[in-house]
Amino acid sequence: MALDFVYIEDLAQLEGTTGTLKGWLYNKRGSKGLYFLIVRDGTGLVQCVVNQEEVDAASWDAADAATQESALAVTGRIVKDERQVGGFEVQATHVELISQAEDYPITPKEHGVEFLMDRRHLWLRSRRQWAILRVRNRIIMSIHEFFQEQGFVQMDAPILTGNAVEGTTTLFGIDYFGEPAYLTQSGQLHGEAMAMAMGKIYTFGPTFRAEKSKTRRHLTEFWMIEPEMAFYDLAMNMDLAEAFLVRIATDALRDCQTELEVIGRDTAPLEKVKSPFPRLSYSEAVDLLRSDETTAMLNAREAALQDEQQQLTDERDANQKAYGQAKKWRKRQIDAREIEINKRLSEVEEALRNIPQWRESAKNFEWGSDFGGSDETVLTWHFDRPIIVHRYPAVVKAFYMKRDPDDDRLALGMDVLAPEGYGEIIGGGERATDLQFLKDQIAAHGLPESAFEWYLDLRRYGSVPHAGFGLGLERTVTWICGIDHVRETIPFPRLLGRLKP
Ligand code: 4AD
Ligand code: MG
Repeated sequence: MALDFVYIEDLAQLEGTTGTLKGWLYNKRGSKGLYFLIVRDGTGLVQCVVNQEEVDAASWDAADAATQESALAVTGRIVKDERQVGGFEVQATHVELISQAEDYPITPKEHGVEFLMDRRHLWLRSRRQWAILRVRNRIIMSIHEFFQEQGFVQMDAPILTGNAVEGTTTLFGIDYFGEPAYLTQSGQLHGEAMAMAMGKIYTFGPTFRAEKSKTRRHLTEFWMIEPEMAFYDLAMNMDLAEAFLVRIATDALRDCQTELEVIGRDTAPLEKVKSPFPRLSYSEAVDLLRSDETTAMLNAREAALQDEQQQLTDERDANQKAYGQAKKWRKRQIDAREIEINKRLSEVEEALRNIPQWRESAKNFEWGSDFGGSDETVLTWHFDRPIIVHRYPAVVKAFYMKRDPDDDRLALGMDVLAPEGYGEIIGGGERATDLQFLKDQIAAHGLPESAFEWYLDLRRYGSVPHAGFGLGLERTVTWICGIDHVRETIPFPRLLGRLKP
């Protein structure tokens, strides 16, 4: 029986039958009387073989006219072929050109990131972006499953708010019918209110920070997941965050094998994301940063990078020498390898430029300051899995943090730092419960008490110990995919200087 519409991801169940695929032309090769069309339909790629002797003239003309990203419907027999992408091949009996694409701007050659970002609406179709955004999708599903299975109620916090949450320096202000308002930095405070109604909740929504610097870790619009639990203390909060990340990594490893392979992710480090995560107090983390152990670890990394740099340069020189005499296929291979070598070399060079500064900054780190991105990176290099740092100096944390009863200088906050240098992906902690303490903190942080009256009510009416945290979705996807910048982990990134497309 001929099916009228099949998806590439289902081909394994359809082997030996005839079906019609609908998709876009990804790539095309031709030889006499034959076209090999690589078609993508959003679920995968498949090669369709069009033999002039086996199709009608209109089908042959359609295959002939199809340009990159033209839309096609290909009918044919589905046969197993291990050598082909996806393990199947379609032997076409009919080809229809649904729409012919103009000259496509994104070709298989190398393009700069800004060029691609300007064409993000088209770049999304490329294999790597497809893979990254499908990993994002899997992570989103894991997040909902994890919380729903444990009886958390999902809540939508408002996006337009009248109060700051995470300091005043990154607020996007707007005019709300003449009243000052902001795009929310975090749903936490409203989440706390909902937790007092539901017990355990989580938000999953867009959050905004006017980050005025360009880094690999910062977007101006990002998605945050914020669980908030009544009657949880800091230790329970850390346990939850740990189980949560183990779940995300385990699901991605199991269900995103193809995607992670397309991205080129070494999955060995993800296999290690298991309980227990090392837990360090801020003070222990500071001691570790300043220790001789850190200096030695960085020296060893530096030496390894220098070796790698030498090897890559030698390989490149050897390839360049051989190029003149090389056969055409070998030249193509060398060209492709050259791109890889240059990419890795620039990463290695950047790391070698950074390490001396990072070593100094770690050695001279002063107790009381917040960790910078490089300090977090250095800390994570000591461990093979995520680490939890807790009990930070209160001065570097937000107004709502509970103080450590054993040391008033400390807040019961915690950050989870992702391994392999990625750094903070979760921030959270136990919340202050005392009404007067909160009033004092709001004043000390220069915040207007009137904007927080409703929040203070939560301490007036049945105040209880509670805790929660926020996971940055894009930083999590960046880490799971093993890529070097958050900008590829959201369909349309918003960054300093990037509002379109
Ligand atoms: O550490 P943050 O600022 O914590 C909060 O907003 C708390 N209110 C969360 C809570 O306790 N409910 O942000 C939480 C996480 C960070 O760890 C990071 O992963 C992500 O949000 N994040 C960003 N991600 C991308 N771009 C930015 N500019 C980000 N700022 C924070
Ligand atoms: Mg933080």
